[in-house]
Amino acid sequence: MLVLGLETSCDETGVALYDSAAGLLAHAVHSQVDLHQAYGGVVPELASRDHVRRLAPILREVLRRTGRTPEDIDAIAYTAGPGLAGALLVGASFAESLAFALGIPALPVHHLEGHLLSPLLSPQPPRFPFVALLVSGGHTQLMRVSGIGDYELLGETLDDAAGEAFDKTAKLMGLGYPGGPQLARLAERGRPGRYSLPRPMLNSGDLNFSFSGLKTAVLTQYAQGRVAVDEAADLAWEVQAAIVDVLAAKALAALERCGLGQLVVAGGVGANRRLRERLDAGVAKVGGRVFYPELEFCTDNGAMIALAGMLRLTVGGMPADAQPRGFSVRPRWPLQGLSAA
Ligand code: KG4
Ligand code: ZN
Repeated sequence: MLVLGLETSCDETGVALYDSAAGLLAHAVHSQVDLHQAYGGVVPELASRDHVRRLAPILREVLRRTGRTPEDIDAIAYTAGPGLAGALLVGASFAESLAFALGIPALPVHHLEGHLLSPLLSPQPPRFPFVALLVSGGHTQLMRVSGIGDYELLGETLDDAAGEAFDKTAKLMGLGYPGGPQLARLAERGRPGRYSLPRPMLNSGDLNFSFSGLKTAVLTQYAQGRVAVDEAADLAWEVQAAIVDVLAAKALAALERCGLGQLVVAGGVGANRRLRERLDAGVAKVGGRVFYPELEFCTDNGAMIALAGMLRLTVGGMPADAQPRGFSVRPRWPLQGLSAA
């Protein structure tokens, strides 16, 4: 069975072909970072228009690379939410109309389920059940993942996401967009001790997070004239350490609470080197193991959507017919509401 996966929830256009027997055949991602850079953040209308421009050429390229034709595709999985409404609608209408034209089913997929299952794209995937730390620009959640569609929310951010905290403090510090990788790079040159920022909710006794106070704390340093240009790296070090300390502590607490040893880290912030070092060391200490999707599958991509679609088809079976149907997208969509089939 050949599944086409389409991702257009935010600022990456992702297309992938996943074969049930051979695995991932090919995938391609176009990032809109350059397009939004001048605005310091994603401009939804520009994102939607760029998805319109990119989808068909990228699909053609992925088909060419695999030597397949549209007629070879058995089903189309697309991100139906959560995300930017207009961007989601581009992917949904493209997927639904192509599926209708080909007489095959189209499958709406939850973007975060794609992230949660993305480590299964690895040659050595984790086995169910595992704890997933989902850390992206829009989400920070700890979930217990017991099987396809069996997700229990253990804790989440009460305000800003971890990636958002990276991006917003980076912006305050005059770094470019997206700020996470840039702040991390600057922090490499920094040293501890010059600044001291809060570790929000570190001792809250639950598995929730709060990151919005960090940007205020950073702003205060600037307002008080405390950050000279050559000290910015030290501040970046402390910002990164504050975010990483809390993420690592809560992820370890989640493993302990669930009595599990496997931790999966998904989402763009999972690319952060210091976070990886901290988690690896902490989880190894309790005899567990951390799984990271390959870097290319950590950030938004079509492969994880194709895989999630494929797994759902495996569990729930192929729909009997492919009737044309209306479709909608869900810019807000709680993950816990999903069922297995
Ligand atoms: O999962 P993702 O590609 O997109 C969604 O938000 O869905 O995550 C993007 C986020 C951004 O906030 C970006 O700044 C952050 O991941 N990020 C990083 C790093 N690489 C990406 N944050 C910290 N360190 C990094 N190396
Ligand atoms: Zn994402």
